[in-house]
Amino acid sequence: MSELIDSFQRRISYVRISVTDRCDFRCVYCMSEDMTFLPRNQVLTIEELTQVARAFVALGVEKIRLTGGEPLVRRNIDQLVRDIGSLEGLKDFAMTTNGAQLNRYAESLYQGGMSRLNISLDSLDTERFKRLTRTGDLNRVLDGIQAAKKAGFERIKLNAVILKGRNDDEVVDLVDFARSEEIDISFIEEMPLGNISDHGREETYCSSDEVQAMIEARYPLFASTESSLGPARYFRMADSHTRIGFISPHSHNFCDSCNRVRVTAEGRLLLCLGNEHSVDLREVLRQYPGEMEPLKQRIRDAMSLKPHRHYFTTDGDVQIVRFMNMTGG
Ligand code: 5AD
Ligand code: SF4
Repeated sequence: MSELIDSFQRRISYVRISVTDRCDFRCVYCMSEDMTFLPRNQVLTIEELTQVARAFVALGVEKIRLTGGEPLVRRNIDQLVRDIGSLEGLKDFAMTTNGAQLNRYAESLYQGGMSRLNISLDSLDTERFKRLTRTGDLNRVLDGIQAAKKAGFERIKLNAVILKGRNDDEVVDLVDFARSEEIDISFIEEMPLGNISDHGREETYCSSDEVQAMIEARYPLFASTESSLGPARYFRMADSHTRIGFISPHSHNFCDSCNRVRVTAEGRLLLCLGNEHSVDLREVLRQYPGEMEPLKQRIRDAMSLKPHRHYFTTDGDVQIVRFMNMTGG
């Protein structure tokens, strides 16, 4: 069991590690059109990323998710997956991806020990998909989903960020797609991370309750008992294996059961997505290369900094200047 416990008696069993801040998409809710990315020497190396994962697993963390930016644009990502996938004690190894490169990577990720994938999909319309992602090609993502199924992933989940006036009319279509592919889907409220130029977030706010009502007009939903001890609330339909999740940072605060921390691509350990509290792991990694104990101690010490909760608003104030691609959601 994890020995990482914060000041509010929450046990940290889950770490999300961003392996790059870069991405081949420019989703309107995540990035501005012209982004400056980190110089490569500021980003953790594959060895340093493995070391971070090893330290957390040694401290009792059982679940790791790789995120980005887009993790599959990171060179040697398959090597990293193999190295982390073989760590003794790791029970759940997952990735969040935009899916565009899964055709190429799904097989090696699965062989490397990864068992679950979250794939972002906000629209099933080619033109609209292009508008929302600015550079993305829907067909490549759909091919990527098929490749993931074929590779053998047990659980594939789609993530859809719903924006009013942009894609809220596709909620039921996305559910139907998940049903026909026999995979899960989560609907996410947009979070106020980074100063994006595309839209005012107060205009596009669409609550999980609204999304849920749209689905229930077509399919009655039954609250599911399974909880991932995380932010999502899950529902099922009577005639399908598909699970529907709602991640509602605005409307349903989930901080009390928070079991996670994040590591940014430059090795900052972030204690909460909605706050700036962080400690620098890269400094320890580079001061004591290859040594586990100083790194573990810095992680233990950081637990006391984990804030009680986030205070997101929908009124358009940007409170967190970090863009989402620094932390991968
Ligand atoms: N609010 C909510 N979700 C976001 N994502 C990216 N930016 C935001 C945001 N501002 C989601 C993507 C993807 C994951 C990487 O994070 O849709 O599912
Ligand atoms: Fe890339 Fe994901 Fe951000 Fe879209 S949401 S730009 S796919 S990192």
